[in-house]
Amino acid sequence: MRQSLLNDTLTVSGLSVARSGRTILHPTSLEISPGDRIGLVGSSGSGKSTLGHALVDDFRAQGKRVTHVPQSPDEALDPLRSMAFQWREAEQALGLQPGSADQKTLFSTLNIEGSDLRRRPWGWSRGMQQRFVISMALMGTPDLIVLDEPTSALDPVVAAATMDLLDRHLGSGNIAMMLITHDLGLAARRVSRLMVMEDGRIVECASTKELLQRPQASASKALVAHRSWVELPC
Ligand SMILES: Nc1ncnc2c1ncn2[C@@H]1O[C@H](COP(=O)(O)OP(=O)(O)OP(=O)(O)O)[C@@H](O)[C@H]1O
Ligand SMILES: [Mg+2]
Repeated sequence: MRQSLLNDTLTVSGLSVARSGRTILHPTSLEISPGDRIGLVGSSGSGKSTLGHALVDDFRAQGKRVTHVPQSPDEALDPLRSMAFQWREAEQALGLQPGSADQKTLFSTLNIEGSDLRRRPWGWSRGMQQRFVISMALMGTPDLIVLDEPTSALDPVVAAATMDLLDRHLGSGNIAMMLITHDLGLAARRVSRLMVMEDGRIVECASTKELLQRPQASASKALVAHRSWVELPC
């Protein structure tokens, strides 16, 4: 597989996934440029998380630095390790010196300051675990951050503060983002390009403005038809 230069365009081609004899991701090729902000939307079960996982695995195998906020914190946290250990491991994976990530700012924005890092994940609430996983994904300057429904478990104030922090973070490091969400309102404010999935395929990819104004695929039309998203806060 091609090993490209730091901050080069990220490329996958013909990525597919089968489970239990069924293809749940049909061959998918895509390119992500440095600093790109892409939203991945689609109905439940359309394959968004599957594509997110497959991208993270493939890019990491290519030697790219990718952080991931999976839809469930269980997928990111080792139940037998303390939160402090998991934090150090995340720093190591990004090649950061121990203690160099700005934990104070990240924890304060995500409202988890003062939490006991000696505990294991089950000593924290689910919402706190999710915020901790987001904070780990925002350390350092990876090539790409993949966030799968990152704000679905957050209250609106923390959700908006988190997305603002994320915006600043992406801009300062020219980091690319893939934001997986059901929430078109969130995507409309935060990404420049939208990809729509249906039945394990990307059925439409366009600029956010174009897609919201002139959706072409039936899945996109169905999503855009639900216009309650306009008023959402983040
Ligand atoms: N390990 C697995 N074994 C079998 N089928 C799976 C597995 N993981 C996912 N699937 C199936 O693949 C399809 C896509 O699942 P996926 O979780 O990627 O959807 P999604 O778009 O992320 O949905 P949601 O919006 O509900 O999170 C679904 O039909 C799901 O049942
Ligand atoms: Mg999902």
